[in-house]
Amino acid sequence: MSRILITSALPYINGIKHLGNLAGSMLPGDVWARFKRAQGHEVLYVCATDEHGTPAELAAAAAGQDVRTYCDEQHEIQKQAGAAFHLSFDFFGRSSSAANRGLTQHLAHALEAQGLVEERLDRMIYSIDDARFLPDRYVEGVCPHCAYPKARGDQCDSCGRLLDPTDLIEPYSTVSGSRNLEVRDTRHLYLLQTKLADTIRAWIDERSPSWQPLARSIAYKHLDEGLIDRGITRDLQWGVPVVGPDGASRPGLEGKVFYVWFDAPIEYIGATAEWAEATGGDWRSWWRLDEGAQDVRYVQFMGKDNVAFHTVSFPGTLLGSGEPWKTVDQLKAFNWLNWYGDKFSTSMGRGVFMDQALELLPADYWRWHLTAYGPEHSDAAFTWEQFQSTTNKDLADVLGNFVNRIVKFTESKFDGVVPEGGVAGPREEKLAADVKAGLATLTAEFEAMEFRKAAQAARALWVLGNEYLQEAAPWTALKTDRDQAAMSVRTGLSLVALFARVTAPFMPEAAGRIAATVGATELSWPGADEDLLTAVVPGQAVASAEVLFRKIEDAQVEEWRERFGGSEAA
Ligand code: MF3
Ligand code: ZN
Repeated sequence: MSRILITSALPYINGIKHLGNLAGSMLPGDVWARFKRAQGHEVLYVCATDEHGTPAELAAAAAGQDVRTYCDEQHEIQKQAGAAFHLSFDFFGRSSSAANRGLTQHLAHALEAQGLVEERLDRMIYSIDDARFLPDRYVEGVCPHCAYPKARGDQCDSCGRLLDPTDLIEPYSTVSGSRNLEVRDTRHLYLLQTKLADTIRAWIDERSPSWQPLARSIAYKHLDEGLIDRGITRDLQWGVPVVGPDGASRPGLEGKVFYVWFDAPIEYIGATAEWAEATGGDWRSWWRLDEGAQDVRYVQFMGKDNVAFHTVSFPGTLLGSGEPWKTVDQLKAFNWLNWYGDKFSTSMGRGVFMDQALELLPADYWRWHLTAYGPEHSDAAFTWEQFQSTTNKDLADVLGNFVNRIVKFTESKFDGVVPEGGVAGPREEKLAADVKAGLATLTAEFEAMEFRKAAQAARALWVLGNEYLQEAAPWTALKTDRDQAAMSVRTGLSLVALFARVTAPFMPEAAGRIAATVGATELSWPGADEDLLTAVVPGQAVASAEVLFRKIEDAQVEEWRERFGGSEAA
């Protein structure tokens, strides 16, 4: 059994996440963590809210709150939404934690001691009325390319070109609206990634052969474009303060904080330290190669826009520190989930958000759909129509129907008790072989982090159950050979117990209810050599579940389309 560290990309603090965020990092991380725990491995799965940076400050201002209060509230909301989706984080931390502050400052100093950080003089826009420098998104003005009057300092939303705030014509501060701006000199810290490029490339060459093509190709594309030295500080109030080695403010860099993308990935370590503080665990044994982490396997889950930060920037931070930090072994990257033909959008409120989704249906319905039909090897579109059709087929017709049918039959014909009698024959032998092969496929797909294929393999097992029942037809056998019927029923009920186990990583709540119908509580991952068809023993009481999965009705789709849009995009 091994020790496995799992992280999902940290969701931004500004607002509850939509289904695309869930499908591309948090949900697959959870499904895989559950699979690995069920196999008996020691898993530590951490995540956190990514709280710093301009978007957090702007969102707080828009909500009329100070940024700390805003983050406190939003963190709780996201934490609860994650729990409601059964995301089994061992800890859900905050990048604004004291742990992360200390680690971020420590790593910046370590990098500087290695000659990899230097102070540089920048020219940036200063707002005299606001008495502060204005980072990218705090300046707007006329786009020099297309004359759009509200271009942001980092990018023009009209023509899409990337901008530098000093490019803007007639710039104004978005803090106060003031046009009383000037360009001033200001000092910032730069991470000398140019000096780290060879180290990072060697590391990627070593690690990436086991990554899937999406992550590997993005990593090399980024490397091949050439690494540049990168500013890692910003003129913001909200963030990890830049300090000198003694912890006091640093002359020339007073009032500056680290760039959010510098401190956010460090929070993977920070969240582990927060977990350790809360539970008495030992975070260093997960992260320090000199203190036990050499036997840890570290796996990260993220959307494709995050890959460069996780394959180049963050490893650069850790490797460049000259200290023995654990770096990621495998990255699993996801494509985009679209909303019909469009993008989900937090700022425009387009799509379905995690809290809203649970108003419509329990978490497991979403978990199944987003895993089995998620944006894994290409972008995928969410549509109500597809959601309805896959849910009704996979969950209601295939899995739910099988479980209900066999359990209800046991209740009505065998007094709700697993019957004894009869001996397995060729049909059961064939079933055993098919189940064994199907389980091997499912396990292999999970090991390979092929989520859609794993879901299809799970579904293929459920289908075997329906086929078996159809052929064995205990309702017919019962009329002539009660022992024969009893044996088929027992076999079917054992399949119920098996299905609970293989379903649990995808749909933990439903799996528990399925297991309960046959009095089982065992949800460990089935071993290749287990005798799965005799798992349920005679005498055991069974009890059908109220409703395992309800079909999605046309009227519901109609109502949801109305509420969330979709029909006009379709
Ligand atoms: N908040 C970022 C996003 O949603 C992800 C940060 S991942 C981390 O794109 F590693 F930097 F934390
Ligand atoms: Zn423009």
